[in-house]
Amino acid sequence: MSRSKWTSEQIPSQNGRVAIVTGANSGIGFETAKALALKGAEVVVACRSRTRGEEAVEAIREAAPGAAVDLMLLDLARLNFVRDFAATFLDKYDRLDLLINNAGVMMPPQREETPDGFELQIGINHLGHFALTLALLERLTATEGSRVVNVSSSAQNFGELDLEDLQWTNRPFKRMGSYGASKVANMLFTLELQRRFREAGVSTQAMACHPGWTRTNLQKNSLLIRMFNPIVAMKPWQGALPTLYAAVSPDAMPGGYYGPDGMGTMRGYPASNKPADASTNVDAAKHLWHLSEDLVGIPAPNLEANSVTNQDDMI
Ligand SMILES: NC(=O)c1ccc[n+]([C@@H]2O[C@H](COP(=O)([O-])OP(=O)(O)OC[C@H]3O[C@@H](n4cnc5c(N)ncnc54)[C@H](OP(=O)(O)O)[C@@H]3O)[C@@H](O)[C@H]2O)c1
Repeated sequence: MSRSKWTSEQIPSQNGRVAIVTGANSGIGFETAKALALKGAEVVVACRSRTRGEEAVEAIREAAPGAAVDLMLLDLARLNFVRDFAATFLDKYDRLDLLINNAGVMMPPQREETPDGFELQIGINHLGHFALTLALLERLTATEGSRVVNVSSSAQNFGELDLEDLQWTNRPFKRMGSYGASKVANMLFTLELQRRFREAGVSTQAMACHPGWTRTNLQKNSLLIRMFNPIVAMKPWQGALPTLYAAVSPDAMPGGYYGPDGMGTMRGYPASNKPADASTNVDAAKHLWHLSEDLVGIPAPNLEANSVTNQDDMI
């Protein structure tokens, strides 16, 4: 018996829900934001470029007339921008149902640093999203049934995460090894975040996903990968399905990892995938959390304030 394919048609109504999608002007983030808007969510399109963001908002409104789409500028490479974004969001919105940590960069030609002095890929892909999530955590946990979705990659299998050298200052820089390391970090962050949600007794859940091999701007720094795009890559609407599944499917499990079901998990429809061994190390997840907290300078709030137990106690 063949398994039915999960598509965006199966997204339940998102009316009344608020979602933030980082990197929503391009590729998988754009398709994710569009699909959520089509189902009635109020979508905050979080982008670093006003021009590209406005184009995306216009395209989403064209596909989903009347959709509530709000462009808010966010540069994940700058912690002060992340803090400002979070402060503005918290002023404007009293709930946050979905935080989709999607934005990313891959394989810059050589080692680069963010203005805060972090290696570019760990800085944007992990630390920027870590800081954003911490800054929004209380609003998330105060919103019943909310989810955080971290977009990782199969490249976690090539990740060379060294918790003693997160910034690649003590070893020769490897652009794939460091991209993969940032994607291991996305997974470890999901694991520890979900552990903390469970321990605090809140209803918020953390999931991870990856889009297989999808043709987007991400491949701009690799001619080799681009050469295989016509043969292997999926279109962005399909690459966005694991993200959407992790975000809204009642069958997605807290702490789960979702990606395509076919051809070495490079193509297909959403299914549960196996993370790399390095991505499931509970001690490494705790260690990375503490390191990240120190680096971004945002302490994790006390989640128990919004726990179901505490809410019950108040009745
Ligand atoms: N495509 C794939 O095959 C594949 C495979 C595995 C995992 N992924 C993951 O999927 C996610 C989405 O990538 P994609 O394939 O859709 O690539 P994409 O088309 O290049 O989109 C990446 C998005 O991230 C944004 N971004 C980059 N740096 C940022 C920053 N400092 N602050 C805020 N936004 C920033 C980009 O903005 P600009 O347009 O302004 O640059 C863009 O909107 C990434 O996390 C990527 O690692 C993709």
